[in-house]
Amino acid sequence: MCGIFGYVGKERAADLILEGLKTLEYRGYDSWGVAIIDEHGFKVSKQTGKIGGASLPPTKTKVGIGHTRWATHGGVTVENSHPHLACNNSLAIVHNGIVENFRELKKDLTSTHKFVSETDTEVIAHLLEDELKKAPLREALQLVFKKLEGLNAVAVVTKDRKIAVAKNGSPLVLGLGKDEYFVASDATALLPHTRKVIFLEDNQLATLENHGVKVFDLASGKEIEPLVTELDWQINDNSLGEYQHYMLKEINEQPRVIRNIATNLFTQAEELSEIIKKARGTFFIGSGTAFHACMTGAYLFSKIAKKHVNTTVASEFNYLVDFLTSESLVIAFSQSGETIDVIEPLNRAKKKGSQIVAVVNSLGSTIYRMADYKILLGAGPELAVASTKAFVAKLCLILLTTYALIGKVKEAQDLLLSASDEVERLLEEGNLKKIKAVADILEKSEHIYVIGRGVSYPLSLEAALKIKEVSYVHTEGMAGGELKHGTIALVDRGTPCLVFAPNDETYQATVSNATEIRSRGGLIIGISPKNSPSFDHWIEVRDVGEASIIPMVVPAQLFGYFMALKKGYDPDKPRNLAKAVTVK
Ligand code: AGP
Repeated sequence: MCGIFGYVGKERAADLILEGLKTLEYRGYDSWGVAIIDEHGFKVSKQTGKIGGASLPPTKTKVGIGHTRWATHGGVTVENSHPHLACNNSLAIVHNGIVENFRELKKDLTSTHKFVSETDTEVIAHLLEDELKKAPLREALQLVFKKLEGLNAVAVVTKDRKIAVAKNGSPLVLGLGKDEYFVASDATALLPHTRKVIFLEDNQLATLENHGVKVFDLASGKEIEPLVTELDWQINDNSLGEYQHYMLKEINEQPRVIRNIATNLFTQAEELSEIIKKARGTFFIGSGTAFHACMTGAYLFSKIAKKHVNTTVASEFNYLVDFLTSESLVIAFSQSGETIDVIEPLNRAKKKGSQIVAVVNSLGSTIYRMADYKILLGAGPELAVASTKAFVAKLCLILLTTYALIGKVKEAQDLLLSASDEVERLLEEGNLKKIKAVADILEKSEHIYVIGRGVSYPLSLEAALKIKEVSYVHTEGMAGGELKHGTIALVDRGTPCLVFAPNDETYQATVSNATEIRSRGGLIIGISPKNSPSFDHWIEVRDVGEASIIPMVVPAQLFGYFMALKKGYDPDKPRNLAKAVTVK
């Protein structure tokens, strides 16, 4: 998962490309690079790490490409950073995806080409170098791209100031300006420059030259009339405002997000409930945090609507689609709308004729565009890699839909408004202090366990993920009843265990599990509306009925945040992660 940005037009390519890459850094921040062309040929700047305040040598140039990298093949080094050049410096390329057959392709090239990196990507540069000796750029890229296996997006710029791009699976959007043209992995990076865009479809290729953009079908090479979309999106205020980090800003935006969804999405929740009623088999799929939201749906649907919904982690759903029919309904949950592990099974479900619903937070994203029915969560841009408000937004939509299934959406709206108030209360200074004090204890631990039963089980998985991904402390979430079947062997004197104990049918059994852990020396942190003698530390989260899972997750989000700060880590851009996972 990487970010691609390209430009041809006026003499401002260098700075413009760097600004574009900063917007795309959520897609990968292991390293970055830019290739521009001036009167002497290619000028390439590459660095490991985040762009931050970096700048490029002042150069008046009209064309170039850039890249932000999430390493898949080859370590985080300058050599492995993109752009990659051909041996004869005739071209530079950037790439998003994985060339699954790069080793076979490389075998035929090593005798005539000098490889300088360990990447799969560099193979494309050398293949193109050979083809360009026999054919013009478009035909050369067409030939080479067809040889690549896997889901890929490529942008190439040649010494004669031409850009060509091709995609299959990974997103690419073209931007049409006044005498200037753009390509980016995400339309939001184009908004500061133009609202006229072309979402490149799979197996399409395009050329960008100073006189315009052309789009071609990759298989036939035929030119096609592209669909130009005029974006009416507002440019979001991505500033940090009063906050030190996006993660803290987005945690604090949750009360507003909850109220917004309660007010604005109940009609869509009712429509969704009708779609679900008509379907023969409904499947919630998602990855990571989105999958945890899906799981809560199974418990809420069962308990409140007496309805079964299947939930599957998206990357595994690929191997479970054979029973899908044209009457099946697949509901995909995704913040970015670009997660390849979700897109792939959706493509397969589409081939089976199943109905696709997208529940996403990114307008114009691939999953949004491929769905038959689209729900935009409207949580606003989520820039911190650790998903917080988008998770809560999904829980709100699921709760509204659950109650809509039984014709009681108003009841869910009221519950959500109480949940919003409770989140607001948790974010007050006094409570933050208590939560931070517990985070200081957790920060010193090597291992942390999190338990919950029923709908609090996926919550325990989400809490563990939030702590793991920003503090890098091994944290394991599990069903409260499972601990004694093995993992309790890892509990030692002082081993912290977070216990989600809402005031519901799981309370007694969960507190018993906490007591079992405590009798092994475990340190119990109870997250509950009521204190218990089994708790060493208690974080009060007031009872808001079936919406209690929403405020319950907030202390865990904050534990992760404060632990990351205490350890001196960047909570917004954790190591080895990226905000949109666009490779398999
Ligand atoms: C969550 O904090 C992580 N960033 C990750 O697990 C994420 O939820 C997952 O990659 C799915 O992303 P999506 O919602 O954009 O599809």
